[in-house]
Amino acid sequence: MVKIIAIDGPASVGKSTLAKKLSKKYNSPILFSGRLYRAIAFEIIKKKVDPNNIKDILKCVSSLELNNLESGNLYSSEVDTLSSLISAKKELRNKLIKFQREFPKNYCNRSKFSIIEGRDIATVIFPNADYKIFLWADAKIRAKRRYEQIVKNGKKARYKTILSEINARDKNDLTRKIAPLMPASNSVLLDTSYIDIEQAFNALKKIILEV
Ligand code: DC
Repeated sequence: MVKIIAIDGPASVGKSTLAKKLSKKYNSPILFSGRLYRAIAFEIIKKKVDPNNIKDILKCVSSLELNNLESGNLYSSEVDTLSSLISAKKELRNKLIKFQREFPKNYCNRSKFSIIEGRDIATVIFPNADYKIFLWADAKIRAKRRYEQIVKNGKKARYKTILSEINARDKNDLTRKIAPLMPASNSVLLDTSYIDIEQAFNALKKIILEV
């Protein structure tokens, strides 16, 4: 049976990068669950849906498919902020549970692992996941990494703006009533503040071998 690797953590902590490295090493598919919220946020912006109208927001869920989760449009500061805001809505979260829970069965039949990253994967979506990893790093360090990544890609960025956006998303994600970001009781905590991505990846591989 496919084993589930749940990776949770705050914005810009390196979840996606580490999930991609695991996926390559173990030839196993990943669900970036944040892209579900991002895709809905993008639809809301595109169709000019009122972000407080839950009925209209839920209508956007029916058009979700794995292939519209690949779009580059899902990464902008407008989508970052709106996805974090709408992710506090209980009805929306509930409607996205099935898609996430069915991902291993629908997309990972032939692989050893199913990798799912997000905020509530080990706490709500897969409380019985085989591996539960909670990534953490100081917000200032995450903002610095993000800033450096944007500049490296030849784009302009302001460190202060990035830090305040990360702090705002952390606040939403950590304090919302439903499915807040928090480590599952039996998760393994990995603080990447003072280690680089290769060191974090080595630590993850050890966790996977040992658990
Ligand atoms: O991981 P991400 O940055 O792509 O996620 C975008 C937003 O979606 C994030 O600010 C909070 C929300 N999210 C969530 O509430 N639960 C998840 N499992 C994944 C993301």
